[in-house]
Amino acid sequence: MLFRKILGMLCLTSLLFGAGGSFMSKNSPLFSDASAKEALGELIVSAEVKELSKSGEYTEVEFTGYQPKDSGVVYEKTGVLIVGFETAKASAVKIIGEKTDEYGTVWSHVTVKGFVVTSALGKDKGSILQAGKDLFSAKCGTCHALHAENEFDANVWPSILEAMGEQAALSKDEKYSIMKYLQNYK
Ligand code: HEC
Repeated sequence: MLFRKILGMLCLTSLLFGAGGSFMSKNSPLFSDASAKEALGELIVSAEVKELSKSGEYTEVEFTGYQPKDSGVVYEKTGVLIVGFETAKASAVKIIGEKTDEYGTVWSHVTVKGFVVTSALGKDKGSILQAGKDLFSAKCGTCHALHAENEFDANVWPSILEAMGEQAALSKDEKYSIMKYLQNYK
């Protein structure tokens, strides 16, 4: 009986706070509180976050990733330049460990907590990346044939997108949306 009660409570908690991860459906500022006063940085489209609580139109989330020493950028994994969070306030990021990747580079394992507008969260990473695919098809095949997704790996696409983002006059959000699609392509 007690067991079933506990089980029920567990199910309810996971319904409320989302079983499994949530993903950013677009780039979105991470605020220190639910009145959106101070931005700690920007969470980047398709980054996985953990939902902690709700407050009005905001959801408190936690993002955990890896940061090279002295970098303002937090990546989703070590050794792969897939951006998850751009730091505006260095002290917002808490170091919880350290990891050395296969190339001998030392990464800080970091976590950051704050509030995002709930409408910037999604459950389905596939459909978030699909939006990037649609943009890629629309914006990247006008001057030359569309390049193949697997022509470059996840660490090369960012510099290409820097150059081609200017060619195609992409906004920052569009650039990241296409970049995340290409970097997650397998
Ligand atoms: C306004 C025209 C234009 C648009 C739009 C454009 N490109 Fe290009 N792209 C070029 C030109 C010109 C080159 C060859 C010269 C160079 O590398 O800058 C090129 C080269 C490339 C290359 C080859 C780079 C290499 O080093 O082999 C890739 C890959 C590429 N583009 C991807 C993209 C992607 C992805 C987009 C969409 C974000 C895009 N392009 C949009 C003009 C464009």
